[in-house]
Amino acid sequence: MAMKTTLVVGANGGIGHAVVNYLCEDPTISLIETVSRSEYKHQDKRVFHTVIDVASEDSIKRYVNERKTSHQRFDAVYICTGILHSDKAPALKPEKRLEDISQRQFLEYFQINTIQPSIWLSALVSVMTNNYSVIALITARVGSIEDNRLGGWYGYRSSKAALNMVIKSAAVEYARRSPSTILLSYHPGTVDTSLSKPFQANVAPKKLFTADFTAQRLVDLSYSLDIEESPYFLDWAGKPIPW
Ligand SMILES: NC(=O)c1ccc[n+]([C@@H]2O[C@H](COP(=O)([O-])OP(=O)(O)OC[C@H]3O[C@@H](n4cnc5c(N)ncnc54)[C@H](OP(=O)(O)O)[C@@H]3O)[C@@H](O)[C@H]2O)c1
Repeated sequence: MAMKTTLVVGANGGIGHAVVNYLCEDPTISLIETVSRSEYKHQDKRVFHTVIDVASEDSIKRYVNERKTSHQRFDAVYICTGILHSDKAPALKPEKRLEDISQRQFLEYFQINTIQPSIWLSALVSVMTNNYSVIALITARVGSIEDNRLGGWYGYRSSKAALNMVIKSAAVEYARRSPSTILLSYHPGTVDTSLSKPFQANVAPKKLFTADFTAQRLVDLSYSLDIEESPYFLDWAGKPIPW
């Protein structure tokens, strides 16, 4: 049986940690590399953690280059990082109206939600296996331009829409340079993590998913895709979302 190697970026996040746990249930995985801005401990011996300053482009590139040099390849990568709000000064708050738009907030949303995952996509092209492989990036339905009926959340929405554009463009190049790699933009639904906490009041209990549920859906979905159809923009139920 071919053993798989995986990478989870953002292992200390609610969804990232649940993805690691779910991967640990798979006996065909030999290595689960994890990356975070801080320490991360897991009892499974296959989990190998690296602390990375993800704000630094060089750190990401160095991390991937080290794997390339040692002929380490990935069958599946899950990029689970992102930000919607923060209480840390200066606070970050999704905009309700045009007047709330600010350069500082936009820069932060784009730095974390668009630029960092794009640097990962750029670096990973040289380290994916040439069997079936997948890079899944957690975006959000609100990043769909066509699906936008409610407005608001200018920075978050735009940063996720921009990431989708990067994924679309990258898929063209991946098809040439890493032709067995599928790119997946994944909407997890509303998941009970610190990211969604302030916005859960109006979510019906059965529409508020656990991180374990979304991780299971994401990982199972990521192994069921067709290379010819890449890139995908799918929700937790596997339904396509218009870009
Ligand atoms: N929860 C939801 O309802 C929901 C809905 C739609 C989409 N999403 C998306 O799902 C992804 C995961 O979110 P989550 O719900 O798991 O949220 P979470 O528990 O708050 O985790 C956030 C993740 O983003 C990383 N992160 C946070 N601030 C960062 C910063 N300043 N610089 C770099 N990385 C930072 C963290 O990385 P470390 O591991 O380094 O701490 C962590 O992995 C995000 O992309 C989010 O937009 C979530």
